[in-house]
Amino acid sequence: MKILAIMGSPNGMRGNTGRLLEEVLAGVREAGGDVELISFAESKVLPCVSCYVCHKTGRCTLKDDFEDIKTKLMSCDGFIFASPNYIHSVTAQLKAFFDRCACIIHCIALEGKYGAVVETSGGGEDADVVGYMKHVVNVLGAQSVGGIGSPVAGCRSFPDEEPLFAKARDLGQELCRSIAEKRHFPEQDAFLNAFRARMKGLVEYRRKEWTYEYDYWQAKGN
Ligand SMILES: Cc1cc2nc3c(=O)[nH]c(=O)nc-3n(C[C@H](O)[C@H](O)[C@H](O)COP(=O)(O)O)c2cc1C
Repeated sequence: MKILAIMGSPNGMRGNTGRLLEEVLAGVREAGGDVELISFAESKVLPCVSCYVCHKTGRCTLKDDFEDIKTKLMSCDGFIFASPNYIHSVTAQLKAFFDRCACIIHCIALEGKYGAVVETSGGGEDADVVGYMKHVVNVLGAQSVGGIGSPVAGCRSFPDEEPLFAKARDLGQELCRSIAEKRHFPEQDAFLNAFRARMKGLVEYRRKEWTYEYDYWQAKGN
C-alpha cells in the first residue's frame, strides 16, 4: 500500500509540522503502509502561470519537480498533505502545488484514493487550515479520512502531546485501513457528486480547447 506524504513546510521534516507528521507516518507504517515523502524543503514547484496548456496536453510546461510529484500522486493508494498555518492558509509552496493540480481537479483524477491532512500553527485557527486541505482532498476526487491540527508549545513540541500523538498515529492507521477496506464516507457524497458533475460539465463545455481533459473523461466512460 503506497502512501505519498507531501510536506509543505520550508522546514521539511525538521520543523513542527514534520514532528506531527512523523507520528502520522508511524501510524501508517504500523498499519503496513509504505511511505514516500516529498518535501518542499527540497522539491521545487513554481506558481501556475495560467497558460492553460495542461488542460490541452495533460502536462505542465514549467520546468520543475511538479510532473514527477504528479506521477507519484497518480500512482499512490493514499496521500497526506502537511502544512504549517501561514496567515490562515497553507504555505505558498503547497498552494503553488495545489494550483498546479488544476488538470487533476478538472479530471477528478484521484477518484478512488484516500487523503489525510496534517497542520500546525503558532497560535491557532487550526480547524480553518485543516478544513481547507480536506476540501482540496475532495476537489481532487479523493475521500478525506480526516485531519489533525495543533498549535505548538515550542520548537517541535505541543501542548498535550500524548493524546495528540495518539490521535496522529490513529490517523495514519485509519488512512491505511480506509484503503484496505475501500471505506465509504457517505457524508462526503453530496459534495463529491455535485463537484464531479460540475467538472464534467465544465470540461464538456470547453471540449474543443481542453482536449486532454475531454479525452480523459471520455475514457472514464461515466
Ligand atoms: C510566514 C509565516 C506565517 C505564519 N502565519 C501564522 C498564522 O497566521 N497563524 C498562526 O497561528 N501561526 C502562523 N505562523 C506560525 C507557524 O504556523 C508555526 O510556527 C508552525 O508550527 C511552523 O511549522 P514548521 O516548523 O513545520 O514550518 C506563521 C509562520 C510563518 C513563518
